[in-house]
Amino acid sequence: MTETLTTPKVEPPRKRLFIKTYGCQMNVYDSERMADVLRPLGYAATDTAEDADFVILNTCHIREKAAEKVYSELGKLREMKEGRAAAGQGALTIAVAGCVAQAEGEEIMRRQPAVDLVVGPQAYHQLPELLARTARARGERIGADFAPVDKFDALPKARGVDGPTAFLTVQEGCDKFCTFCVVPYTRGAEWSRPVAAVLAEARELAAQGVRELTLLGQNVNAYDGEGLDGAPSTLARLAHALADIPGVARIRYTTSHPNDMSEELIAAHGALDALMPWLHLPVQSGSDRILRLMNRKHGRAKYLELIDRIRAARPDIAMSGDFIVGFPGESDRDFEDTMDLVRRVGYASAFAFVYSPRPGTPAAGMGAQVSAEVARERLHALQALLWEQQTAFNMSQAGKTIDVLFEKPGRHAGQAIGRSPWLQSVHVDGADQLIGQIVAVEIEHGQQNSLKGRLAGQRPDRLAVGDMEREMTA
Ligand code: SAH
Ligand code: SF4
Ligand code: F3S
Repeated sequence: MTETLTTPKVEPPRKRLFIKTYGCQMNVYDSERMADVLRPLGYAATDTAEDADFVILNTCHIREKAAEKVYSELGKLREMKEGRAAAGQGALTIAVAGCVAQAEGEEIMRRQPAVDLVVGPQAYHQLPELLARTARARGERIGADFAPVDKFDALPKARGVDGPTAFLTVQEGCDKFCTFCVVPYTRGAEWSRPVAAVLAEARELAAQGVRELTLLGQNVNAYDGEGLDGAPSTLARLAHALADIPGVARIRYTTSHPNDMSEELIAAHGALDALMPWLHLPVQSGSDRILRLMNRKHGRAKYLELIDRIRAARPDIAMSGDFIVGFPGESDRDFEDTMDLVRRVGYASAFAFVYSPRPGTPAAGMGAQVSAEVARERLHALQALLWEQQTAFNMSQAGKTIDVLFEKPGRHAGQAIGRSPWLQSVHVDGADQLIGQIVAVEIEHGQQNSLKGRLAGQRPDRLAVGDMEREMTA
């Protein structure tokens, strides 16, 4: 017989943590990992800054607006901090993390003295140490002059999981240096996590009920992490290995660069059921001239031909993308080329942005900046076309029976919201007991942002009593 030894548990004091996340999915992942790092210190998540002892703004530097939001939020937090001090209430610790922290950490400290610490995207595993130091000397800064490898090694193995889908960072950084973009400066050089580390994290997630993994990287399809045999692997091989993990039913990855879309990866879309038929493959512009100025290193013909090859491998694949309008020197003709490319591809979902000059990037110094008014007009025209395409795509699902992974309860009682293979939100009544499961759903109709369906096999004449009453009184 074994004896169970119980060590008296010393519970750390309960403290409340509020993380506000801006920017891309990579930041969402990082915020979750920051919570993981701080949990052993007694920090539990709360939903508002008002309730928190520690507030982290996990910031984005991609466009000017994104960066400016941080300063206005910090202004509010400063008032809150001063108010608490005046009322003799508990202290509020304020941290700025993420890409603004990396790009302008010193300026943050200068502009907003209420900030206690600034931590770059590769250094947040040091938060416990930073917090301790902050308690002693206010205003320390640890930057991001670290390799991501240090961070991933230091992060706790256990992850907090929220629902059946999870982000998993497999690659960081970017070597592409598009002339408009800050990411190569805020996130550093391309670096991939070893396959063994990714598989271990995926197994841990699957054991907690995660069914769908979204592999993240600024250039995720350039993934070349060390394989189990010691040689560099590829994203296609990683996807195959992940699909073998019991419980992992769906795999997505984002964001990809057209130049890293290998034949092997395209083939994987045809061969691997778990690889979902949805691909975010930003092109930014449909004009060869602008693509050259952007240093994208591919033209429109190459992109269009790539889409053809991807669709040949996986005919039902839904395409997503990002576009920038108003890049310096963009003429009406260049913009028309973008509209034409969008019409040719047919996107299921896509984002359009007005070009925002970012300090230190080559494009910011280019002449012929497009006026704000023209850029806005182009944005509206492009967005109208993209929304039209998205709505048409969603409506085309009506009448089909598709697999939906239910993620969370909906707004109405009994309703659940899930995702289609094409990343559409699907609302289904009477499905709240099915969260975490993949279930066949008959789509009734689609609209701009979502689909409405019913559990397959459930006929419309089999309505619940309440529904019948509603129908009769309608
Ligand atoms: N590796 C990712 C980068 C994320 S940035 C990618 O290539 O998609 C997300 C999107 O923001 C980019 O695709 C681009 O469309 C947009 N973006 C980047 N820099 C921008 C800028 N200076 N102005 C406007 N949009 C920008
Ligand atoms: Fe930025 Fe271009 Fe790298 Fe994407 S590929 S992160 S747009 S530099
Ligand atoms: Fe923004 Fe940094 Fe992501 S700049 S888009 S949070 S990589």
